[in-house]
Parts: sequence; structure tokens; C-alpha cells
Amino acid sequence: PRYWLIVPAAGSGQRMKADCPKQYLRLGQRFILDITLSCLLDNAAFAGCVVATGPNDQWWPETEASKDRRITTCIGGAERAESVLAALDALSDRANDDDWVLVHDAARPCLHADDLAHLLTELKNHPVGGLLATPVADTLKRTGPGSHEVEATVDRRDLWRALTPQMFRFLALKQALESAINSGYPVTDESSAIEFAGQIPCIVEGRPDNIKVTVPADLALAGFILERK
Ligand code: C5P
Repeated sequence: PRYWLIVPAAGSGQRMKADCPKQYLRLGQRFILDITLSCLLDNAAFAGCVVATGPNDQWWPETEASKDRRITTCIGGAERAESVLAALDALSDRANDDDWVLVHDAARPCLHADDLAHLLTELKNHPVGGLLATPVADTLKRTGPGSHEVEATVDRRDLWRALTPQMFRFLALKQALESAINSGYPVTDESSAIEFAGQIPCIVEGRPDNIKVTVPADLALAGFILERK
């Protein structure tokens, strides 16, 4: 099977409170999206890459990536899962059903090449696929809905923070996303859709500094992580 790359970059990044989506903020001289894509595409595994952009995206033509002929774009949807589905549709005449698809957030520019390589080799012969994740470091509390009263401390020993890339088979991922979205299931990552379809993804432990740039403070942190890479 071949390997395809999907990068959902159609979010508006409202929590960042910037005047452009977070993937188009700059770290040093470069767009976050360009940093993310060059880390991924430095790995020679990929047969092609689809970036899902927003319907009113005026920044993509300014990127280095827009000049890269390995990359095509599609218009994303209102939710991340719909953006990924649109990108899968854009691949449908090139990808085979059992080809691998790796999905990685545009807003995770700190991915290490080692983690990507590790994910690819660990899951290469896995029937379902899986994701990078990192053990939870904080003590976790559960409250009732909307309440601040602690009901319980959650045992964190078997808990992981889901990261990206997440890697699944083309047809299995497409069907899982379609059925989870149609059922109104809250799909926050590819793995949740695959689990909803009754399959069991595998975790590959990744570095905790593969952060998703979400709030303003993350920008400085990402800059620091990238400088030390
Ligand atoms: O909003 P969140 O941080 O979960 O977004 C994760 C990734 O999904 C980002 O790279 C964002 O651009 C992308 N996304 C998307 N389409 C949406 C919402 C988010 O491609 N409708």
C-alpha cells in the first residue's frame, strides 16, 4: 500500500484571537502551516498530500507549500472531521482502499521526524492503524456537567493524550467518518471515528512537545520547541 497525507487547515482558530487563522501565523519568518508541511514532506513515504483550506482562505497562495507540486488543496468543512472527509474525497481517484492515510493538524508544527518515522514503522503491518499519543501528566478530576464540584479523581495510569499524525486505511477511515458524522457522534479525531466503527486503533507513544497551537501562549512555546529541535 501507498501512503497519503491529509492536513486539515480549514479552521478559523477563534481561540487564538488573531486576525488570521492560527495556521497562518508566523514563527520566525515562516507560516506555521509551511513549517508543519515541510516536516511531514521531508519524509519520503508520501505519494501525495491534500491540504483542506477554508472557503475564504486568502493566505494559502502566500505559502511556500502552494508552490509544491506534491500538494493539492480542497475546500474543508465546518468541522474538522468534514475537512478530513473532503480531503479523502479529493484523493478518491488516486488512493486504493487499503492505502494508508496519515492525518496531521496544520496547527502542530513541532512534530519530530523521529516520531513520524516511528509511527510509520510501528503500524506498517497493523490491520487497523493508530495514532501518536502521550501519557497524561496531570492529575485529572471529574465534575458533574457544568459543575465545579469534584466528583472523582480519574485514574490516569491508562490515559493518553491523543496527538497527530493518526494513520488509518483509506476506505475504513472514509466509511468511519461518514457514519460517525451521520450519527451525530462527536468526532474530535480520526481515531474516535474508527473506534465508533468498532475497530481498535493502536497507540504509538510520541513526544509531549508535539503541541497543537491553540491559544496565544502556545505560539511562544512552539517557537521555543522549534528552536531546540
Ligand atoms: O480547532 P482545532 O484546534 O481542533 O483544529 C485542529 C486542526 O483542524 C487545525 O489544523 C484546523 O485548521 C483544522 N480544522 C479544519 N476544519 C475545521 C476545523 C478545524 O480543517 N472546520
